[in-house]
Amino acid sequence: MNDAVPAVTAVSDSQILKNRYAKIIGTGSGIPARAVSNQMLADELATRNIETSDEWIVARTGIRSRYIAGADETAGTLGLQAARRALEMAGRDAQEIDLILVATSTPDHVFPATACLIQGWLGNRKAMAFDLQAACSGFVYALSVANSMIISGQVRRALVIGADLISRIVDWNDRSTCVLFGDGAGAVVLEASSTPGVLSCAMHADGTLTEMLNTAGRMCNGAIVNHPYLRMDGQAVFKTAVTVLEQCAREALAMADLPVTAIDWLIPHQANLRILQATAKRLGVPEEKMIVSVDQFGNTSAASVPLALDRAVRAGQIKPGHKIMLQGVGGGMTWGAALVQF
Ligand code: ACO
Repeated sequence: MNDAVPAVTAVSDSQILKNRYAKIIGTGSGIPARAVSNQMLADELATRNIETSDEWIVARTGIRSRYIAGADETAGTLGLQAARRALEMAGRDAQEIDLILVATSTPDHVFPATACLIQGWLGNRKAMAFDLQAACSGFVYALSVANSMIISGQVRRALVIGADLISRIVDWNDRSTCVLFGDGAGAVVLEASSTPGVLSCAMHADGTLTEMLNTAGRMCNGAIVNHPYLRMDGQAVFKTAVTVLEQCAREALAMADLPVTAIDWLIPHQANLRILQATAKRLGVPEEKMIVSVDQFGNTSAASVPLALDRAVRAGQIKPGHKIMLQGVGGGMTWGAALVQF
């Protein structure tokens, strides 16, 4: 990336926004070692008299397999793997990064932030590093924050990571949730550029909907207070997700002054194939333009969008100049869309 980036001096906000973009120059993934097919999962659950089947899971969700982290794998270790691969693709050294932002609901520790752990493992001792919690919308929220910090001139290069191990907070006795999730991490390197990158971000939350999807437990005086596992009203989440995913995509397009037809690839949060299909249909985007990875990874929460993005980039589907609509929706409820040009 040799674009001449304008120096940030005392210019108006509109001038900065016009001339300085945050561009994705590398993507990467971190995947646990163990793949678990629906049949393997059904067999494991059957040993505890919990009945499910490959047929049910595929028909209701489109999920065929997921990766489940082993004891030594964490959001930090998978995030590190994803970060290293993204840096390698970008041709950048970890020392060149000014901001490390990790979106996660399953951090390695209460503190320090998983971003600080990854920073230490990368040997970077100067970047700003922090975690961001917006559940399954975490990655697009983090992308939006990093974009703002780059276009304002506060940082030049950012590592944005989505990493989650929902297998650690799911109730393995609740078949209505445990079959839906998988573990993983995805990352992008964002860099200041004078050519278009992130074109628009539309992020929202509605904190009156916390009961729809939550993990309410917290540590208190050495014990866990409140319910320690993920709880979800599946049908309410489904209806909310398809409504808000359509709304925020249209909002991001309007902000960039672009029509729906400008979208080369649609990457909605990979929660459930039926949510993805409904979103594409409501937007009028042909299904061939939608990237699907939920079949292979399940719902990986904050990792789902960067994982799908990395897969599509490495498969050669996403090419320079393409416009990608990235979308998240999750607990909070939170949701958002980022329109990005490669
Ligand atoms: N295997 C077999 N049967 C099951 C399973 C399972 N794993 N889970 C539930 N069932 C049964 C139920 O007990 C119920 O049986 P009953 O009719 O005898 O009572 C039947 O299947 C239907 O259950 P519903 O909950 O009505 O099934 P539904 O069609 O709504 O599908 C699902 C459930 C897949 C969770 C759906 O509501 C959904 O996709 N919701 C979106 C939620 C989502 O994707 N969440 C991800 C996290 S949130 C996020 O990322 C935004």
